[in-house]
Amino acid sequence: KIAKNFQELADNKKDKNLLILTIDALDLSKNIPENSIDYVLTDPPYGGLIQYFSLSSLWAIWLKHNNPKFEIPYQDEITIEHKKDFERYHNLLTKALREIYKVLKPGHYLTLTFHNREINVWNSVIKAGAYSGFIFEKILYQPNKRASEAGVALPYGSAISDYYLRFKKPEKTGTSDHQKMGKDEYERIVIKATKDIIVLRGEPTEMTFILNGIYTELFSTGKFFEGSHEDIVNILKENIGKEFVHIESKGGRLGPKWWLKNPEDMLFKRVPLSDRVEKVVIDMLRGNIKVTFDEVLQQLFINFPNGLTPDTKGVIEVLKEYATTTGDGRWRYKPEVGSRDSEHSEMIYYLSEIGRKAGYKVWIGSKEQGDTFRNEKLSKYCTVPNLKLSGFSAEEIRRIAMIDVLWYDKSSIKYVFEIENSTSITSAIERASHIPEEYDTKRLIVIPEERQKMLERKMNEPMFKEGYNKYKWQTIHYDALEDFYNLHKNDKAFNQNDFKNLK
Ligand SMILES: C[S@@+](CC[C@H](N)C(=O)[O-])C[C@H]1O[C@@H](n2cnc3c(N)ncnc32)[C@H](O)[C@@H]1O
Repeated sequence: KIAKNFQELADNKKDKNLLILTIDALDLSKNIPENSIDYVLTDPPYGGLIQYFSLSSLWAIWLKHNNPKFEIPYQDEITIEHKKDFERYHNLLTKALREIYKVLKPGHYLTLTFHNREINVWNSVIKAGAYSGFIFEKILYQPNKRASEAGVALPYGSAISDYYLRFKKPEKTGTSDHQKMGKDEYERIVIKATKDIIVLRGEPTEMTFILNGIYTELFSTGKFFEGSHEDIVNILKENIGKEFVHIESKGGRLGPKWWLKNPEDMLFKRVPLSDRVEKVVIDMLRGNIKVTFDEVLQQLFINFPNGLTPDTKGVIEVLKEYATTTGDGRWRYKPEVGSRDSEHSEMIYYLSEIGRKAGYKVWIGSKEQGDTFRNEKLSKYCTVPNLKLSGFSAEEIRRIAMIDVLWYDKSSIKYVFEIENSTSITSAIERASHIPEEYDTKRLIVIPEERQKMLERKMNEPMFKEGYNKYKWQTIHYDALEDFYNLHKNDKAFNQNDFKNLK
């Protein structure tokens, strides 16, 4: 039973249970009292993806027929018609969310469905929510039954389905009745949140990602504060050289990246986000014959929720590096990358043979032991079935046991080898960092020759560079290892010093 206004709906005596308002979203609180709504679900315009008002001009003619005064209120439309309208879109969206905030009861939720491949539009929505006073809690991915128009037009590089963003209106709302946040506390939160986000991502991070996390922190205090985007950037700029350093990113479409002045404490606490993202993408490509961009994004959202906003352009770069498009909107693992995978076991086999002949005990990574080479399980080449090393905790041994190949004797680990053809080498360095620097262990990364460029690129990543240099890693190529193996294939044993010639 349709009510005429909110009062009728709220009034239990009248049997009304539905109110339909066709009004400007910015007028919501003129029609609905503040703190009166239990839940809001909304589907706002996605940037300028579809020009709803212009497209409705045809049927608006019929509306004019009934009401000659009817005009399409173009001035009220929340959209981006030209690139320069971005600020306007952002402001109107913020005002619309502010209206929702007003009418919602404290402690209650807003779900907002959204879809856009541009990171600045994404950020606009999250920021608009935060500016309005909401706490951004969670993002969920919801595959559609049917591909959207955007997905059909750009099959390789667009999220086809929608995302659901969950916002909460805090119990204690940030109005002037509440405690006002002092300047010191504001600055402290901004700096701490920035550090936390950088640590969480484990890599130099652009301001746009940092801001999302800062707003969440600021609003979750429930205090009222004055401060804008510029204030935050200024606080952070004042701390360049004290807490943070700038790392210029090549191409730099999102500006410089921010990194910690003293990253030592966090070294290897977390593998860089881009490595983690890349690993998920590669695992998917390995496991599926073909994947859609959408399926990839879905996995990423499940694996990296909340503060770890994925940059869809970065995901496309990873796909381009490891996969090719198949003409039907899907991606398939590049055959040459696939064959490098099978060489992984071959390299482990060579290393186990060389190590054995040089008189070392050999250990093969706990995961790799299950892989096969020439129909033999690699576990066969471990000198003993369980890794026993003194001076390490059980957890350290568990991590060390995951290193691809170890050569050791009764007193210590002499060599560690990590065989890599993807950028997950940072995790390789992390695993081996459980063996202290003082141990005089030789650490070698074995990579296919053509991945040398990737290694050089990784050297721009502070965490990788830091670890590589600190633990004095060296690199050898697949071909060199294979040649060395063939050269000594028929030797029963050889001098441990011979291996030093391998370069
Ligand atoms: C993503 S669409 C929602 C589509 C809807 N869920 C459906 O399935 O039909 C966004 C809608 O917001 C409308 N819109 C744009 N500016 C508005 C404003 N100021 N107030 C209310 N609605 C607005 C657009 O016309 C468009 O219909």
